[in-house]
Amino acid sequence: MDTRRKEVIVRPRIILIVHHSVTGGTLQMAQAAATGARREPGVEVRLQAASAAGPQALLEADGYLFACPENLAAMSGLMKDFFDRTYYPVLDRIQGRAYATLICAGSDGTNAARQIERIATGWRLRCIAPPLIVCVHAQTPQEILKPKVIGPADLARCEELGETLAAGVALGIF
Ligand SMILES: Cc1cc2nc3c(=O)[nH]c(=O)nc-3n(C[C@H](O)[C@H](O)[C@H](O)COP(=O)(O)O)c2cc1C
Repeated sequence: MDTRRKEVIVRPRIILIVHHSVTGGTLQMAQAAATGARREPGVEVRLQAASAAGPQALLEADGYLFACPENLAAMSGLMKDFFDRTYYPVLDRIQGRAYATLICAGSDGTNAARQIERIATGWRLRCIAPPLIVCVHAQTPQEILKPKVIGPADLARCEELGETLAAGVALGIF
């Protein structure tokens, strides 16, 4: 027996998907992204509600997807609360890690995406793709409040983004 043989334990790369959703649209997008990311061997995908995620989840992960609705021309409140709680505890401890953003919006989504980009810039994360905004074309109160169904083409875009992030992290490209 070769007693000099050393065991190298390769831990799986971890993709953290932090999400908040009120009428279900963002949740479907986040789940699709998780499906795509799980296709990549050697990657563990953690799907966590923004209200349950904290600094430790960020520290443990190698790449991130931030997924939330745009509400009142801003990221949704619980997503903001997640960033408020975690920003300083992980500052200077996660720089260089890869991230992308998923936004579900009634008609716009750009302000929410911009806000997340500014926070990620503060953390010095590496943006791997433009924000993926799915517009559900809801503008009346009735449309806005009803449960959302995200179409297959948009879900496929989310899957692809999840897979791209996971593959890049697994291969050490990001
Ligand atoms: C209080 C409130 C404010 C909203 N403001 C915006 C907005 O500023 N821009 C926009 O594009 N959509 C806005 N919407 C629409 C939501 O983004 C849309 O309903 C989306 O599907 C929500 O995502 P969810 O299904 O994951 O909850 C608003 C919805 C609510 C409930």
